[in-house]
Amino acid sequence: MIKKITCIGAGYVGGPTMSVIAQKNPHVEVTVVDLNQQRIAAWNDENLENLPVYEPGLDAVVAEARGRNLFFSTDVDKAIDEADMIFISVNTPTKTFGKGKGQAADLKFIELCARQIAAVAKSDKIVVEKSTLPVRTAEALKSILDHTGNGVNFHILSNPEFLAEGTAVTDLHNPDRVLIGGEDAEAIEALVQVYEAWVPRERILTTSLWSSELSKLVANAFLAQRVSSINAISELCEVTGANVDEVAHAIGKDSRIGSKFLKASVGFGGSCFQKDILNLVYIARSYHLNEVADYWEQVILLNDHQKTRFAERIIKTMYNTVNGKQIAFLGWAFKKNTNDTRESAAIYVADHLLDEEANIIVYDPKVSVEQIYRDLDYLGTRSSEENRRLVKVVNTAEEAVNCAHAVAVLTEWDEFKQYDWAKIRENMKRPAFLFDGRKLLDGAELQKIGFSYYAIGE
Ligand code: NAD
Ligand code: UGA
Repeated sequence: MIKKITCIGAGYVGGPTMSVIAQKNPHVEVTVVDLNQQRIAAWNDENLENLPVYEPGLDAVVAEARGRNLFFSTDVDKAIDEADMIFISVNTPTKTFGKGKGQAADLKFIELCARQIAAVAKSDKIVVEKSTLPVRTAEALKSILDHTGNGVNFHILSNPEFLAEGTAVTDLHNPDRVLIGGEDAEAIEALVQVYEAWVPRERILTTSLWSSELSKLVANAFLAQRVSSINAISELCEVTGANVDEVAHAIGKDSRIGSKFLKASVGFGGSCFQKDILNLVYIARSYHLNEVADYWEQVILLNDHQKTRFAERIIKTMYNTVNGKQIAFLGWAFKKNTNDTRESAAIYVADHLLDEEANIIVYDPKVSVEQIYRDLDYLGTRSSEENRRLVKVVNTAEEAVNCAHAVAVLTEWDEFKQYDWAKIRENMKRPAFLFDGRKLLDGAELQKIGFSYYAIGE
């Protein structure tokens, strides 16, 4: 029976996942640690609005468990020393240097965790891979732990996370499945018991380590592939007069296809789809499976095409020039109900329009000003002064759309549907262009009001 759990990494996965594990296992002490002091301070903030991750319902979970059996700390060594079970939930970004640059996962942070666990541990530990990792990473982890450790026993489990941002708490409370890969039956059972506190036993799947590690990459690849598939069809719809929502609805009624994840968009974003597919492509190529690698790479190429195509459509429709024109961006997050902007399509669409010297005014209900400039500066396309000259960030949609030549919807926030669009149009330049990258709004109604309305896939 596990009494103390430590999780290394207090990010979008570590924070919410451990909060729910603590909520549902009041007798297990759960400590989440991170090197980032600011992040830990935010997790400990009295004011729950300041939690570092915005997720609907997360504040209530943290309020229930924090201080009771859920703790956030920067004392990594102490937490490792005291735990029976250690989750590793650190970031595994795409490598930006050396072999595998631009494709392979950078496992530096994972290795640092393994070395720290090995150095500190004085009793047996179950080490759980929560981060998304290349297949066979457990082998490397075990090797580091066994060769540099203090002679204690380590059992490694793979327990990938399938939550989606924006719905993290409901996904964690009611998962389709929990996946546990491992070799040691006792270690597996110990983790099964943690989840059994709220997840029905039949939804807890146990497999080999390698199947578990690979399943996570494959799940994300299949999900992203559906988005790229429907986005490819959206372009075909635009030239043939078909409507992509109608096509998605019609095919989704086939129970073999299913209706979920068929919403055409300006392109998928998020920290993981691209990273995990690139990783899958890299693994396939490293085994010389070039056809397999090419097949999955196409999902990314199509996604890049979709983002570029949206930006080019804006330029072309606005008489082939956006120079000096004011374009209001509604939404910057990679999807609604999150403040996460990693790989958001908005960043790339903005970059393309800024190359054409457009003036962009951004409004997003949850994303901070600093984050938006950080995202643009990170691309390195132009100086940060130039980004600040061309892009303004405002606190309300009214400010963004006032006097704009065009509005572009980049994130599917619900509030955008409630706006008084007739009033918005009154304050815009004419013709009032509206580019709906999420096919979110009622196009027929907007055209009636007088907008020149363009949506993905129609
Ligand atoms: P994140 O960047 O939000 O959080 C990772 C945290 O780990 C950071 O706060 C960082 O400071 C900390 N960290 C790194 N090295 C450390 C060390 N040596 N010691 C202590 N702390 C350290 O990342 P995330 O979005 O939570 O993703 C974590 C993993 O989970 C990734 O592998 C990702 O692919 C996977 N994943 C993410 C999601 C998602 O929705 N974001 C969903 C499923 C799986
Ligand atoms: C995704 C997976 O859904 C999770 O199961 C997985 O755990 C996670 O990646 C991960 O490993 O990080 P997430 O990226 O948070 O979750 O969000 P999704 O809901 O999957 O959306 C990803 C992107 O695809 C968003 O930009 C979204 O707008 C876009 N999308 C999604 C579409 O364009 N159309 C759709 O039909 C669905």
